[in-house]
Amino acid sequence: MPDALTKDRDSRDRSIVAKLIDALPEAVIVVGPADRILAVNAPARALFPTLRPDDLLVRSLRAPDVLDAVKRARLSSHAERVTWLERVPVERSFEIHVVPLQGVQGEASLVLSLRDLTEARRVERMRVDFVANASHELRTPLASLLGFIETLQGPARDDTDARVRFLGIMREQAQRMTRLVDDLLSLSRIEQHLHLPPQTKVDLVAILRHIADTLAPLARDNDVVLEVEAPPAVLVMGDRDELLRVVENLVENAIKYGTCDRVDGRPASVEIRLAADDEQCILSVIDHGPGIAPEHIPRLTERFYRVDARKSRAKGGTGLGLAIVKHIVARHRGRLAIESTPGEGSTFTVYLPPEGR
Ligand SMILES: Nc1ncnc2c1ncn2[C@@H]1O[C@H](COP(=O)(O)OP(=O)(O)OP(=O)(O)O)[C@@H](O)[C@H]1O
Ligand SMILES: [Mg+2]
Repeated sequence: MPDALTKDRDSRDRSIVAKLIDALPEAVIVVGPADRILAVNAPARALFPTLRPDDLLVRSLRAPDVLDAVKRARLSSHAERVTWLERVPVERSFEIHVVPLQGVQGEASLVLSLRDLTEARRVERMRVDFVANASHELRTPLASLLGFIETLQGPARDDTDARVRFLGIMREQAQRMTRLVDDLLSLSRIEQHLHLPPQTKVDLVAILRHIADTLAPLARDNDVVLEVEAPPAVLVMGDRDELLRVVENLVENAIKYGTCDRVDGRPASVEIRLAADDEQCILSVIDHGPGIAPEHIPRLTERFYRVDARKSRAKGGTGLGLAIVKHIVARHRGRLAIESTPGEGSTFTVYLPPEGR
């Protein structure tokens, strides 16, 4: 039985340990003799709300790899490092350092410090995916260009008709690559300026009208009626070129993907609506096409994400349009919302703060 003096000293030690680890920004758990939890700091409690002082570690942390590392550290009196992947409720990964401490609470205590690797891993995976996607998108037109060059140097050397036709296709492929590189460059440019909100006054209505005129030929080719509904003028603090790209991509998408597969035989329409009050400007691009299944919606603004990559590629798309839209809207301190009902159509809405707010 511990005497009163020992008990007193123990509780004083524990309170010092608890205060010390509470001052640290990293998640820290201190484990005492018999693998009982001595102290847990706030970041660790936030990560694992079930961890409580005096509970057995094995009961609170269902992580065999971590418990093994604790055992090894106890036996060897050396620090151990272990990575731990938690799958439920959401996937998270941690790097955990287990360091034995002699002298605290008599028996060896252990300090577990946890570093959350989840965000770093996500960014790393995005980087790897991004490079793979970008190379893949460039490789396809490049392979086709090389194929045509070889044909023109060999079998089709003296075939004038083939030369004209192939050069036409080669030009298209080269344009596709140029567009991809331009899109990638503008994405990184917007990212660099994300923290600098635009400083010029622009009229959104003029932008809408300009895009409606520019895309009129595409709408005509696709049998689409473009309808614009807007007040005479709506001013925002914005970058004209960037806002043109936002409206252009949304309207182009609505024409390209939002007007096909129609069964009722009515002429397809795309509506561009702009409304504004003192609080916000609301720009909506509405189509009545096949819509988008709910599982795709949260991913549409990811780089290179396409619901149907083949269909999009056939229409000259690279899947960067909505990623660019999202970044531009963020730079303008706005928000993009996507709503869609399969079979009924989609509405892409951009909310922007009005000029002067
Ligand atoms: N109005 C819409 N209706 C149905 N699907 C849509 C609509 N708008 C976008 N999508 C889907 O979202 C995907 C991503 O759109 P996004 O604009 O980012 O790329 P893209 O149009 O394929 O290529 P890019 O814009 O770079 O030319 C499209 O490939 C399409 O599958
Ligand atoms: Mg697009």
